[in-house]
Order: sequence, then C-alpha cells, then structure tokens
Amino acid sequence: MRKGDTGAGPSPLTALPTPVAPVADLAREHRPGLTDDPEWYRTAVFYEVLLRAFGDSRGSGTGDLRGLIDRLDYLQWLGVDCLWLPPFFPSPLRDGGYDVSDFTAVAPEYGTLEDFEELMQQAHARGIRVIIDLVMNHTSDQHPWFQSSRSNPDGPYGDFYVWSDDNTRYPDARVIFVDTETSNWTFDPVRRQYFWHRFFSHQPDLNFENPAVREAMFDVVRFWCRIGVDGFRLDAVPYLFEEDGTNCENLPRTHRYLREVRALVDREFPGTIMLAEANQWPEDVVEYYGTESVPECHMCFHFPVMPRIYYALREQRASAIKEILADTPDIPVGAQWGTFLRNHDELTLEMVSTEERAAMYGWYAEDPRMRANVGIRRRLAPLLGNSRAEIELAHALLLSLPGSPTLYYGDEIGMGDNIWLPDRDAVRTPMQWTPDRNAGFSTADPGKLYLPVVQSLVNHYAAINVEAQIAQPTSLLHWVRGILEVRRQHPVFGNGSYIPVQVDNEAILAFKRTNAQETILCVFNLANTARSTTVELPRHAGASVTDVFGGARFPAVGADGTVTLTLGSRDFFWLLVSRPSIHGDEAPMTGLPAHVPPAEDAGRDGEAVSPSQPQRPETYVVPSAPHAGSAPRVPELPGFEPTTAHGFTQPGQADRAADRAVTGSGSGATGYGGAAAGQGGPGPAVDRDMGDHGTGDSGAGDGGAGAGGTVAVAGTLGQPRSFTGGQPAPVAGALSPGSAGPAQRRTDPSAATPES
Ligand code: NOJ
Repeated sequence: MRKGDTGAGPSPLTALPTPVAPVADLAREHRPGLTDDPEWYRTAVFYEVLLRAFGDSRGSGTGDLRGLIDRLDYLQWLGVDCLWLPPFFPSPLRDGGYDVSDFTAVAPEYGTLEDFEELMQQAHARGIRVIIDLVMNHTSDQHPWFQSSRSNPDGPYGDFYVWSDDNTRYPDARVIFVDTETSNWTFDPVRRQYFWHRFFSHQPDLNFENPAVREAMFDVVRFWCRIGVDGFRLDAVPYLFEEDGTNCENLPRTHRYLREVRALVDREFPGTIMLAEANQWPEDVVEYYGTESVPECHMCFHFPVMPRIYYALREQRASAIKEILADTPDIPVGAQWGTFLRNHDELTLEMVSTEERAAMYGWYAEDPRMRANVGIRRRLAPLLGNSRAEIELAHALLLSLPGSPTLYYGDEIGMGDNIWLPDRDAVRTPMQWTPDRNAGFSTADPGKLYLPVVQSLVNHYAAINVEAQIAQPTSLLHWVRGILEVRRQHPVFGNGSYIPVQVDNEAILAFKRTNAQETILCVFNLANTARSTTVELPRHAGASVTDVFGGARFPAVGADGTVTLTLGSRDFFWLLVSRPSIHGDEAPMTGLPAHVPPAEDAGRDGEAVSPSQPQRPETYVVPSAPHAGSAPRVPELPGFEPTTAHGFTQPGQADRAADRAVTGSGSGATGYGGAAAGQGGPGPAVDRDMGDHGTGDSGAGDGGAGAGGTVAVAGTLGQPRSFTGGQPAPVAGALSPGSAGPAQRRTDPSAATPES
C-alpha cells in the first residue's frame, strides 16, 4: 500500500507494540480430564459464553475469568464439551471486544493471564475444552500497531495497515455494517491518508500483504497455544486480503495464508482446531476446509442453514432446509460443520434471498428496533414467541442436522433480550442465575452492571433463571440437558452421514443419520398443526423402529419400505431404525465426511476414554453469590435427579435392549448399549413432552398467524400442546427489497415436496 505524507506531526505513541511475552508451555499432553480423540470436535457440543456476561466474581459489575471458573460446574452439569470465548483481550470495547488493542494479554477487567491459565486447567479437569477468538482481520484503532502506523509511516509498523491516498479503491467490496458505515475507507487526520476497514471505522484492517503482519499473527497463535487453548474461532476470515477487481472476499491468498496457519498449528501444537467464521454460501465456505492433503480449517460455521430453520418454522414447509443441505458440497474427511441457532451477533440474513429476508423481518422483527445491519438482534426464546414447542423443535433440528452445534449462553433457559439497548448488546445481557439482585450475576450496585439484566414483562429474570429451572423438573433447562445427553449417546449425530428421506407432506422434514453402528431417522413437523406423513425407507423394509428418548417401539417399516407417522404441532421424532439395510446403504448426499470412528474401546462420544475422564455431576446447585472460590452454596435446592417419571421408561429400555440383541447392532461399550448399561438406572432424563414452562406457547409467536385462537389439544404423548390456527403468517411490515444484502436465493423454491 502507498504511504503518504505524514501531514500532522506524529501523535505520541502510548505503548510500543507488545512483544510476545514468553509464556510457559502448558504441556498439551498433560490434560487429565480430556479424551485423546483428535477428532473430538466432530461429536462435541460447543457453548458460546461471553466472559463479560457470565459471572462477576468481584462485584465490579462485569463478568470475569474467576466468575466463569466458578460456573464451570454448571457447564459440566449441562453437558457441553467445548467453550467458545469471544475476545477477552484489552479493548476499547466499541465492538464487544472484537476491537482488540493487545492480542496477547487479558483485559484487566476480566482478570490476569494466570486466571486464564487456571480457567484452562479447571475446564480441562472437567472434560471441557476451550477455544478462543482469533481476530486476524483487524485491530482497534487504539492498538499500538495502528498508533505507530498512523504517526510513523516509514517506521516498522507503517505498512501494517491498508493505506491509500484516496477512497476509491476496491469499489466492489460491500459494506458489512450498513447501520453505521457508508464506506470501507476512513480518512485518518494524523497520517492524512485513508485506511481500509471492513467493519467499524475504528477497526482498521491489517495489511496481510506485509510479511511482518503475517508473522505477527503467527506469534499470536503461538502465544495462546502455549497457554493451552484447544482452538480458535477465526473471526471475519474471508476478508484478510484485498485485490483490485474483486469483492475482496475469499481470495486465493487468504486461503494460502490459512493453510500456513494450519501447518503451523499441526506442526507446533497438534490437535489445535481452527473454526472459520465465513458468512458465505456453502460452495464458498467449503474452500475454507482445504483438502485432506493440504487442509485449512477443521470446522466452518454453516451460516445459510441457520436462518432457514427460522424460515421453515414460519413458512411451515421443510423445503428451505432441504434445499440448502442439498446445495452443501461434501467436506473432507475429518472436517465438520458448525451449526448454531443464535450467537452474540444479530441473526444474520445475509445468506437468504431478498424475498426470504423480507418475510423474516415481517415474521421476526416487527419492531424496527429488532433489526440490526442485515439481520435481527433478538434471542432465541423471544424470536420464537417463547413457544416451548418451537424452542424444542429448533434444538432438535440443531442437534441432529449435520455438524457440531454451538449453544449460546442463556438460550438453554430461554433467556430474553433487550431491544432497547444499542447494537447487539440486545442479546449480550447478564446470565440469569437466580431471582435475586442482578439475577445472581453480580453483587454490584445494579446501576454498575455493564448492561442491565433483562426485566421485560415476559422474560423477567425473576421468572427465567437457572435456579428456578433447576428446581422445576419440566423446565427447558432440564429438557436441554437431557437432549444433550441423548445426543452424546449417539455419536452418529456428529460423525454419521446425512441422508435425506422422501416424505409426502411438505411440512415434514425427514432425514437419516447413519454410521457403521446405527441409523437414526429424524422426522420434524414444521407446521403448527398436526400432520401425518408416509416416510419412504426402501432400504429398511421390515426394520424395527424405536424412539431414542423413551425406548418405545413404533410400527415397523412395512414390507413396502414405508412407515406412516403422525406428529403433533411442532413435534419431532428421533427413531432408531435398528436393522441395517439389507441392500447396502445409500450414499451420503451432502457435506458429510464418511469417516466413522471404530466402535471398540469407545466410550462417551465414541472416543477412547482416558482413565481419569471426569464424570458429569448429576446435580448442580447455583451459588448464592458468585464470589471466587468461597461462594456459599444453597443447601437444599432440588437438583436434577433422573427418575422414571422424567426419563426413559423401563419398558422402553427392555424393548431397546431386546431390539439391539436381535439386530446385533449394538457396540457394547458405545451408543445405547453402553450408555444404558453404564447408567445402570433409569437412564438419561428426557421427557419429550413436559408441557409448557413459564410463559408457555404464545399465539404471538406465530408472527401474526393468530386468525385462530389458542387451543389446547392432545400432544403426541398425551400432554397438552397449544397452537394457533390459520395459515402461515403474512409478511407484515416487511422491509422493501431495496434493503437487500448481497445474497440471493440459489435454489428453486418450487422444488419443494408437494403436500400429500
Ligand atoms: C464477527 C463478530 O462475530 C462480530 O461480533 C464482530 O463485530 C465482527 N466480526 C467484526 O470483528
């Protein structure tokens, strides 16, 4: 990049670029709580936790590392395998910490590097891995590199950023933060040149053409690997390089650099994973996996499937999800998709068509304050009108579609949002632990909190909190914990092939997940009224069908290779199809590695069990105050205790065991057989139909479909469900197509399975 006159005199450099401090290697092989499986991420459940939002150990009003350490027992109890920590580095916090001013330090408000090391050790001891954000693309304008670059163009950092004398270059690069930015160039009055930025104008992009920048980022990777992190979420990774005549996204040189990063971690810190945040179409994202012989990332978030889950729920048709999965190319052996329902950003609508986007704004963001950039800044529960049935259905999809799921903190209790806060702070409020002051998050004066706790009419923290949900066996929290347990018993959800299955009802989504051990048929009713459908399983004629939650036997697949199922409103089944195909299995169709771990010597997640692997606790008691180390415990809160009333039924277990004995599909130490035997009791507790919690189903949740009243009907298993009658919601208040982002639909909407 060109360098110009300095113009104004250099501004004083407050701090010189941070030398990468020598940090003792935390021996990567000395991690007693963890399994040895190098592909652990393929069967893992991730949990995104904002340090600032989780637990305040010091009464400062801001969450911190010790506060998170204090809450690790909860996360272990919940059953997550890996934490994703967004940036906790020194930062002016004008972009939630993604505006980094020092890549190799911990922001003082969160604690110290020693605290971070302790977090790693304590998490690992509980069998939980930790990945952190690596913000490669840009820094804060307060980073010493930028301060030096703007004031001393001929100095060592003069070429660390992308400078230009005018603001006309790269005109085809879109503006991403359309709410706040009008250009990717901003004039710097100190250097008297424009600098390039893909995000906020206080976040200059690093110049990856400069070998010193590439080396500096390698050193950042080394720094955190030496501390023992298990991987990196690569923030904003498509934008590292720029090139004239392109849209400056997904460029070959970006891929080349990522391959170098991968080679570095494989060589120096084997086992460290790379997870790409590339909000792109599947055919572009798969490039971020590289190839088996020259790999890039282990995982990539699958952005386009996420909004289609929400779209399908309101459209009450399965086609959007089916089509995007059909459009998803295969990925290399050992790679994995990352799926999610929500995260710390707006629910991005960049990867849907103009029409779909307009519909989703109408359905999900009726108040303009709910919109941000090209997306919707709301949390899962309020998005779904606090409908328990829809929240369960969305989770069941998340946990069975191809990929490793990431949960967003608080969504497991149905936490609300606060659309009156600016930007994406709407979905970044403190975790709600108890009905006490500051929701048990902090002992600070409430006015001192980094953000207020949610006190909305419907989602007030006094009603929606961990303590209350632990005390209530039918809570969403217990349901989520239970379904995670069921997923854990079936590694096929992580490592199996995805095979779409033909049905005769457009509201029904059906697919199989298959590996060498088992086949699970997943069937979802996306409609808010009951549906019956005939599922075609031509290669499983005569196979028995068993519900994985309760063990109940369903009618077997007929001799004609079909089975007819009836599902209540927003209902779903995960069904073990227990006799292997007699004609050989279908070929996997989309994006799924064929690799399946061996059944022998396998334990949880099909992994080799290290002798000291920790057990998940059966109970968790919320500390009464989140003070580090010495939190008094509430003595007699009812914890989670599996009972036959909320768990597998004994008859179901008998059926299942008999089934496996007959088919010989059990692996002894893994999957059903191993888990059931290992539990030795009633098994993991998942009551598929616990009824509604708290606010219950809300007619409003159906986006204005309320032509019909709310009517209680018998659910599939005899519990009350409610539904709103009428047709799919009209597109009320939809934005004009003129506000469209870059993406357009790439599949034919008319290709949907016709309604029977
Ligand atoms: C993606 C992050 O998820 C988002 O929060 C951030 O604003 C941008 N990258 C810019 O760093």
